Amino acid sequence: MRDRIKVKFTTENTVAVVRTRVALQQQVRAWKAAGETVGFVPTMGALHSGHISLVEKAKENAGRTITSLFVNPAQFAPGEDFGTYPRQEDDDLALLSAAGCDLVYLPTVAEIYPDGSVTDVRVNAMSDLLDGIYRPHFFYGVATVVARLFLHVQPDTAVFGEKDYQQLQIIRRMVRDLGFPINIIGGETKRDGDGLAQSSRNLYLAADERRAAGALFAALHRASVRLSLGALPGDVSAEAEAHLMRAGFRSVDYIALVDPGTLALLPADAPMPGGAARLLGAAWLGRTRLIDNISVTR
Ligand code: PAF
Repeated sequence: MRDRIKVKFTTENTVAVVRTRVALQQQVRAWKAAGETVGFVPTMGALHSGHISLVEKAKENAGRTITSLFVNPAQFAPGEDFGTYPRQEDDDLALLSAAGCDLVYLPTVAEIYPDGSVTDVRVNAMSDLLDGIYRPHFFYGVATVVARLFLHVQPDTAVFGEKDYQQLQIIRRMVRDLGFPINIIGGETKRDGDGLAQSSRNLYLAADERRAAGALFAALHRASVRLSLGALPGDVSAEAEAHLMRAGFRSVDYIALVDPGTLALLPADAPMPGGAARLLGAAWLGRTRLIDNISVTR
């Protein structure tokens, strides 16, 4: 059950909404002048309880919380789902009100990308691995919009979901390289009962696809146990792919064991070294691409 449906009919929208950088910065300056800290959760809307857990994490780490709702055109390639990406502003505002978010930033495209704007942010190397191979534009669009949002919001902390693990690590790297004075916090992935990671794109799944979707986390979980016992990453990835194809997935882009910080691939033909690694997967169920990941410790 989507939480926002329950909330919509029981709560008045109390959250403040601003649509311009000027209005946003007036409020942020006033909070900071009063000695308050600001936590920020950037989103593309179509919120679910995974997003709300990020808002809760921001509230634990800062006095005031801002959430942005902005479907960022720069992270969609032609032919991807920019036009059909779910937009549910009223439901999102109701959920954020109920969660005690202080302010929602709802900029227009022109507010984020002023006319004639030609400046991008590229976190090289890390953006070209894993998902970057299949969506070459994607992390450049993400880094660019997040850098712009950071300059608008000027938060003390920002929270990103671990479900988008590569994105989280790229943002950490961007913040380090550019010296943004922002503490980046990862929020744990929220899952449905069968393990499916919550995602706005789960709305695309037909009923039979939704029944099969839990197989992605099941395959990653089984693989993580095998890896922690010393199985070879190449064998484990092949097993996980076979598991997904049997479960009804259309194709698998990758199941990859990587260094958790740099995202560099670990050798396929040697047991993972002692310590921590991250196993990431991306696979197609019908026309929907699902991603997920799990920590692996040996
Ligand atoms: O994870 C998302 O929803 C988006 O990639 C983000 C970080 C809000 C940038 O548009």
